[in-house]
Amino acid sequence: MITVALTKGRLFEDFIKYMEENSLNDYLQALTAENRSLYTLIDNVKFIFAKGPDVPTYVESGVADLGIVGSDILAEDPFNILNVSQLPFGECHFSVAGLPDQEEVETIAAKYTNIAFEHFKHQKKDVSIIHLNGSVELAPLLGLSDAIVDIVQTGGTLRDNGLVEYEKIMDIHARLIANKRTFYTKEDEIYKFLREIGVI
Ligand code: PRP
Repeated sequence: MITVALTKGRLFEDFIKYMEENSLNDYLQALTAENRSLYTLIDNVKFIFAKGPDVPTYVESGVADLGIVGSDILAEDPFNILNVSQLPFGECHFSVAGLPDQEEVETIAAKYTNIAFEHFKHQKKDVSIIHLNGSVELAPLLGLSDAIVDIVQTGGTLRDNGLVEYEKIMDIHARLIANKRTFYTKEDEIYKFLREIGVI
């Protein structure tokens, strides 16, 4: 048996859409069952549903063999995992954004503070960074920060809150990650699964 850690939320919805578009019906039905169970077993594959930053933690420890996670998570923190390949879904990007009439940017609110820090360090700009856990768009609206570094997918959240993108920082997409040991010891099962979901 192999265990695959999936990221709950937006990336999971993109994965489901990808499976629908590619008629991967064997997994679809079980993965879209309406209940609150945090794992499901389909043949020899156990799927667990985790928060994004926890997916590489499960894979690193070996309790999950594979993971599907956004490149945003892998760019924010280091993990001792195999970063196997890019997957054809989960596209979005990081941007610096804020109110249209903002002149100086000295404070930045972000959930991904390391990415924000590295970006401004690279630009040799001295900003202070405030960590938030979500709904980061509130910060410039309330005057907590001058701008934000955050994920933009459709742009709807920025638009609906009267914010604009100042600059794009980096593209984000789904990545397939694997445990460094079991990727080889469970090679046959892993490759069978990867063929079934059409990524090799
Ligand atoms: C993410 C991100 C933005 C939003 C962007 O938040 O932080 O708020 O999605 O998507 P859009 O461009 O399609 O509007 P998420 O919904 O993951 O929740 P969070 O605010 O709690 O992080």
